[in-house]
Amino acid sequence: MPGRFPDELNAQVGREFAASQQYVAIAVHYDAETLPQLAAHFYRQSIEERNHALMMVQYLLDADEEVRIPGIDAPQTSFADDRAPVALALEQEKQVTAQIAALVQVARDEHDHVGEQFLGWFLDEQREEVASMSALLSVVERAQDNLLLVEDYLVRQGGGAGDEPGNAPPAAGGAF
Ligand SMILES: [Fe+2]
Ligand SMILES: [Fe+2]
Repeated sequence: MPGRFPDELNAQVGREFAASQQYVAIAVHYDAETLPQLAAHFYRQSIEERNHALMMVQYLLDADEEVRIPGIDAPQTSFADDRAPVALALEQEKQVTAQIAALVQVARDEHDHVGEQFLGWFLDEQREEVASMSALLSVVERAQDNLLLVEDYLVRQGGGAGDEPGNAPPAAGGAF
């Protein structure tokens, strides 16, 4: 019986691309409100998710498995208030953490040690993503209607550059 791991990883490629599209939608929401730091933050998050998808594609290529790039559902593009997109982003990151953990379990059940080791980086990444998005949501809630305080916070964070863990797996075509 062929293993489920390649199929499940292909499915995760689609979810990473979906996360990327959702972050573009959130970035555009803030861009339209002239909140350039929030917009830049989510444009960058979008690129990170796109890179995650292509790291998984590279893994499948290296493992000589079939790669199926899927279509994805439309992201949410309208939001009740300026807190909602960050709350959605945090929820999305928590879901991805659970998805990666489930993938680890599939690899473990199938004694796919190479696959399990590949996912170790993503577990580290998810820990950081949930922590930083949770912090951003706290700042947004504290700022209430004054989103300029959130803009200042992001400037002081230095644009979030280099906030991914080291030793990132290679991405197909090269990471941006
Ligand atoms: Fe991701
Ligand atoms: Fe993420």
